[in-house]
Amino acid sequence: MFKRSLVTTALPYANGPIHIGHLAGVYIPADIYVRYLRLKHVPVAFIGGSDEHGVPVTIRAKQEGITVQEVVDRYHELIQKSFEEFGISFDVYGRTTSATHHKTASDFFRKLYDENKLIVQETEQFFDEQTQEFLTDRNIKGECPRCHSQGAYGDQCEKCGATLSPEELINPYNANTGNPLTKKRTSHWYLPLDAYQPWLEEWILQDHKEWRPNVYGQCKSWLDTGLKPRAVTRDLSWGIPVPVENAEGKVLYVWFDAPIGYISNTKDLCEQNPAFGKWETWWQDEETRLIHFIGKDNIVFHCIVFPTMLKAHGKFILPDNVPSNEFLNLEGDKLSTSRNWAVWLHEYLVDFPNKQDVLRYVLTANAPETKDNDFTWSDFQARNNNELVAVYGNFVNRTLVLTNKYFDGKVPPLKNLTETDKQVLESLNEIKTSVEALLDDFHFRDAQKVAMNLARVGNKYLTETEPWQLAKTDMERVGTILHVCLQLVANLAIVFEPFLPFSSEKLRKMINLSACEWDDLGKQDILQVGHSLGKVALLFDKIEDAEIAKQLNRLEEIKQANIVQQEQEALKSWQPQPIKAPTDIETFDKIDIRVGKVLKCEKVPKSEKLLRFTIDDGVSERTILSGIAQSYPNCEVLVGKQILFVANFPPRKMMGIESNGMILSVCDADGRLVVTTASEEVKNGTTVG
Ligand code: MF3
Ligand code: ZN
Repeated sequence: MFKRSLVTTALPYANGPIHIGHLAGVYIPADIYVRYLRLKHVPVAFIGGSDEHGVPVTIRAKQEGITVQEVVDRYHELIQKSFEEFGISFDVYGRTTSATHHKTASDFFRKLYDENKLIVQETEQFFDEQTQEFLTDRNIKGECPRCHSQGAYGDQCEKCGATLSPEELINPYNANTGNPLTKKRTSHWYLPLDAYQPWLEEWILQDHKEWRPNVYGQCKSWLDTGLKPRAVTRDLSWGIPVPVENAEGKVLYVWFDAPIGYISNTKDLCEQNPAFGKWETWWQDEETRLIHFIGKDNIVFHCIVFPTMLKAHGKFILPDNVPSNEFLNLEGDKLSTSRNWAVWLHEYLVDFPNKQDVLRYVLTANAPETKDNDFTWSDFQARNNNELVAVYGNFVNRTLVLTNKYFDGKVPPLKNLTETDKQVLESLNEIKTSVEALLDDFHFRDAQKVAMNLARVGNKYLTETEPWQLAKTDMERVGTILHVCLQLVANLAIVFEPFLPFSSEKLRKMINLSACEWDDLGKQDILQVGHSLGKVALLFDKIEDAEIAKQLNRLEEIKQANIVQQEQEALKSWQPQPIKAPTDIETFDKIDIRVGKVLKCEKVPKSEKLLRFTIDDGVSERTILSGIAQSYPNCEVLVGKQILFVANFPPRKMMGIESNGMILSVCDADGRLVVTTASEEVKNGTTVG
């Protein structure tokens, strides 16, 4: 029933370069899908672009000390170049600062506003009195209420991954200035999602049961919780001004304008390239199939908020599917732009020039389609060396080299097929239907596996038949084997085209196959007898241990730098504890605090935290255990020092040792514990008071 496909990919924030997580989660699967559709001659428009509004770009500008415009210009260009380099074959790559987009988004808002589809609500928001600005979630930082790390954002803690609201942060402050925050009233326009809840329930939960379980499940849980109106404007200076009266200082919320960017960019595409026809055909004709490729943090916006906007507007089609991936981690840790924990695409190409397809292959083989997955450099190396080189490349190379050697680079005739030959050729029968079924269902990693299995079949066949041995006795048989292999090679070039476009092109040159027709896939006679091959080259090459070690070292350095930075962050936002409730001198007097000298200090075996002190308390020696070992890795330095301790707590046993008292320490802003003492040497056993 669909005549054409409109494929969009989440618009990345132009606040930094893109990394393997973006590629694995969104752009590679989308590109595979689009290339596949194009090979099948399905009309398709592949829409991409940069998201240039929102807080992330403004934060980057402050960090780098340049204007926001400069930030988005720089990263838009860098991102666009990375996509090109990795073969992400957008038909258009636009930007949300374009004139087309500003107008499209403004008009969209205005239509909803004019038709009373938006409501106004007044709320309290965090405000910085000193800079006179309202703070958005991302601009607020504080201590995470869950893991208590410092520098968590108002919407999320990057350390433990918790989703937060700014109200939950402990000691919230302005991320840019460090100023403490107050609350102030402000009013905004809201999209009343609650009013669309029944419609959404039917449209998603009834009509789109085929959506991926992770997507469907997230939608269901949002709907089960009950939707609330969502603000679509913000108090900010960077963004698209709210196009109504009395809205000074307000812009459209980035998540309102950005998805409209898909429409704006389609408009630009049709404007620039008449072959795409009218933009309205892509967005307003029921025979267009709209598909959004996104990462899991975008699900609610693409499955609930944007469809509600489209529905409220009334003139647009709705997404037919929203294939969303889970997250890719790097060496066991969450990818993070701000913590530089990533493999950046532009850096990858410096270290691994011309190896785009290797990364495409690994990221698809390991795609986080159903659960979060981990990218590790050792897996990268193994998949390259053991699969691309040893299976695919090796099969192709052996076939072509032998054909050159024995048949002067021409496809030899097929004679007297054996059972094995027939079986191998039959493995081609299934390939088209099975890859198509998988790709149609967005199962990219399984589809790629099926393609790779074809190379495995070929490799095994060559190894078993050993044509290089037969060459001494039976040239006709050698010809038949190589003929079969060459048809497999041609099929590999076609089936891998959506996945590994650079290698497929290279391979097609090697076998002199100019056109790549998906319809040829599965055929046993793609290369005719007598057809001349091109020049043979290696399709893939081995990645050495040293190159992997270099990448691991780089990550180790980043890890160290992050630890230092986190300590600095903690110092910056440190604030004294509030003063405790009033007490009296009598209560204080009950506690017997004394000076003692450290005679011995050693780590308690098998305990991470405990130090065992032997103290001269002026009368005798006493043992005190104290949980400060992590702050004193060289605890011998404390020997000979005087410290303060509580002398009249009841004895307490820990790790089988009796502790008589408590060493008094202070906790510094970075979490380090420091023992306390009198400012001059005094007699052991004197009391504090
Ligand atoms: N910039 C957003 C992100 O990186 C994605 C925007 S997708 C769009 O998470 F639909 F809004 F464009
Ligand atoms: Zn946390």
